[in-house]
Amino acid sequence: MALTVVILAAGQGKRMNSDRPKVLQPLAGRPLLAHVIDTARALGPQAVNIVYGHGAEAVKAAFPDPDLSWSHQAQQLGTGHAVLQALPAIPADHDVLILCGDAPLVQADSLAAMLGALPPHSFGLLTARLADPTGYGRIVRDDGGAVRGVVEERDASPSESAIDEINTGVMLLPAAWLGKTLAALDNDNAQGEYYLTDVIGLAGAQGLPIVTVEAADPSEVLGINDRTQLAMAERIMQRRYAQTLLDRGVTLADPDRFDLRGRLEVGRDVFIDVGAVFEGSVELGDGVHIGPNAFIANTKLGDGCVVHAHCAMDGVVAGPDCEIGPFARLRPGASFAERVKIGNFVEVKASEIEAGSKVNHLSYIGDTRVGRDVNIGAGTITCNYDGANKHRTTIGDQVFVGSGVMLVAPVTVGAGATIGAGSTITKEAPAEALTVARARQTTLTGWHRPAKRRD
Ligand code: UD1
Ligand code: CA
Repeated sequence: MALTVVILAAGQGKRMNSDRPKVLQPLAGRPLLAHVIDTARALGPQAVNIVYGHGAEAVKAAFPDPDLSWSHQAQQLGTGHAVLQALPAIPADHDVLILCGDAPLVQADSLAAMLGALPPHSFGLLTARLADPTGYGRIVRDDGGAVRGVVEERDASPSESAIDEINTGVMLLPAAWLGKTLAALDNDNAQGEYYLTDVIGLAGAQGLPIVTVEAADPSEVLGINDRTQLAMAERIMQRRYAQTLLDRGVTLADPDRFDLRGRLEVGRDVFIDVGAVFEGSVELGDGVHIGPNAFIANTKLGDGCVVHAHCAMDGVVAGPDCEIGPFARLRPGASFAERVKIGNFVEVKASEIEAGSKVNHLSYIGDTRVGRDVNIGAGTITCNYDGANKHRTTIGDQVFVGSGVMLVAPVTVGAGATIGAGSTITKEAPAEALTVARARQTTLTGWHRPAKRRD
């Protein structure tokens, strides 16, 4: 069948109490609408049309993708009115699959199953049975079980409210029929809106068969209207991501304490402890071990890397067998070859560190190139900023920097050099030599501490 997916995304989402349009609220680090668009695309439709209105500019700007078409709904007069705005863009021979921009958990597999079960130009409705149907439209059937309509919660009689079969908001309808029917809707209901759901009643009244498909997993149908539902959806989404990783062979210390806000690629036998948050695009090689409470964004860690507890990193590339943390902060442009060690309370920014080098304690390394097998002593700082400009530090292979050294950039330390502890290095330190730049230690014998005067 020729298919147009229409995504309803014009509503304000009053119950969110937010300045942000509802469909831009983040779920797993991406707007709600992004998830629905992904699902729509997975079905391979001829077109994806988004009905937008509230926060129009922000919503449209968030999705510049050329394969999307947009229909503007100037006033949010109801879901039926919303679909009416999209109709001029839809060829009459298409079938229209309607998704809600605030229901991001519906899975493409469920929709594909529904589409696959229905011949072209069918009337299909994705339903679910919920232990607590509060807030959803209820499916009303006649004595023979045929669908007679959908009644919104606020318009439902007590007996209708007791129905546990609900409208998920997903419907499949022929475009030509919608064109005739939507224009005839009225808004004579509790909310004074043009309800899309009324078309089901109209189809029922015309004797058209409405096929219902029940969602296998009730968690798929969660519509997000408030922050509580957003938090519930977040957990469901995270549990799904966790399950995918478990299936791929990742060990998660606790799948319920795992957060992915982006994309995570993993090798074999990866271990992830509790409290890890991944953002953006992250790649973990074979055998990578992530300790507890890590924040890892836009980072690539080579095979065998170990990240100890409480590290934060963004924009890092590490070769194999690096060891990081605990308590390391790695910022964009930190790039390590193999077997680099970054210890506790070390910050690295925009610096390349070559194989086997160690920065083990309490250091800041910024705008620096560190050669191979270098040892940077505790408390060493590259003074890269003069208050106006940033300057580079270059440290050759096999350099040994003692503890507490200030390297005032721009500065170069030649290969094989040793820098005495406590030095403040402002000029080039030559290769293979010991450079010390600190006051000489003197001892005054026979010196007495001042005594307190008594007068
Ligand atoms: C809707 C359904 C209800 C269903 C539930 C599933 C109607 C009348 N009711 O109720 O049967 O159980 O979804 O989650 O359809 N929207 C527009 N323009 C508008 C109004 C809404 O684009 O004028 C969009 C919203 O942005 C939202 C979606 O349509 O993404 C659903 O609207 P919402 O107001 O949340 O409907 P519900 O009351 O949840
Ligand atoms: Ca809703």
